[in-house]
Amino acid sequence: MTDHLLDIADLGGADIEAILDLASAPIDALGHPLAGLGAALIFEKPSARTRHSMEMAIVQLGGHPVFTKGEEIGFDTREPVEDVARIMEGFHAVVAARVYEHSTLTRMAAVSAVPVVNMLSDHSHPLQALADGLTMRQRLGAVAGKTVAYVGDYNNVARSLAEISALLGMHVRLACPIGFEADDTELERLTLLGAASIEQGSRPIDVVAGAHAVHTDTWVSMGDEVDAEQRRQKFEGFTVNEEMMNVAASDAIFMHCLPAYRGLEVTADVIDGPQSVVFQQGHNRMHAARGAVAFVLGVRP
Ligand code: CP
Ligand code: NVA
Repeated sequence: MTDHLLDIADLGGADIEAILDLASAPIDALGHPLAGLGAALIFEKPSARTRHSMEMAIVQLGGHPVFTKGEEIGFDTREPVEDVARIMEGFHAVVAARVYEHSTLTRMAAVSAVPVVNMLSDHSHPLQALADGLTMRQRLGAVAGKTVAYVGDYNNVARSLAEISALLGMHVRLACPIGFEADDTELERLTLLGAASIEQGSRPIDVVAGAHAVHTDTWVSMGDEVDAEQRRQKFEGFTVNEEMMNVAASDAIFMHCLPAYRGLEVTADVIDGPQSVVFQQGHNRMHAARGAVAFVLGVRP
């Protein structure tokens, strides 16, 4: 079976530890598994971090990244998703895609002879979560038993973050506005994945109390722009601010996948303040991507 990377929840705790160990290892220790090989990077949506971190990770693994915009490929308009996957497997050792619909990834994975990697879909953002896990491990030390709080939309980033936090044995706390919460099935899955505990509340100040890592994300994800104004109204009170950071653990870190909108999901004094680790987190995208791609190619620490 080909090892795809579509969702954090498809992995076990030992897989996550292995990817984070590979991400932390010297580049040469990974053995350049892509030497002489290609990696297709297909983007239906814009990107700064994911494109650059993946391109550099592929180069560090000895390979050659080929970037293509989704509109050039034309999933299901120019040709069926499955035909794209079957062609790409003849050129590349890995196919990675950022897509509007998660089903585009599962359809590619169903027919692809080479690993398919999710570079963000409407459902999840596993490469981001791996960088988040790496950053928490670097900043908090042993993360099992520590508390991660997420404030905002239970979106692609939140889902993958909650899943990796659960697999790492953390306490997971969510503060989401009405209509933007994790449903019961999601919460049960987090328990099954191994979370030390799960709590969801609607008062961010209560949810972040005592947390070791406080995360948030944009209120308006790519693809949600038509609802932007309505969302901004519904998310009032969910801005991560100094008052919230003051009730978190005294050495708590603030995290955001970026891009960030200062004054909306987070105040400028928090994201630009001493507790913020957003640039370390962003830089970790490259190390996490290198570990993840090496892992799907069969490299183990
Ligand atoms: N965090 C993240 O995925 O950023 P980009 O959209 O810039 O890739
Ligand atoms: N939730 C955001 C993350 C961007 C990196 C989005 O999907 O647009």
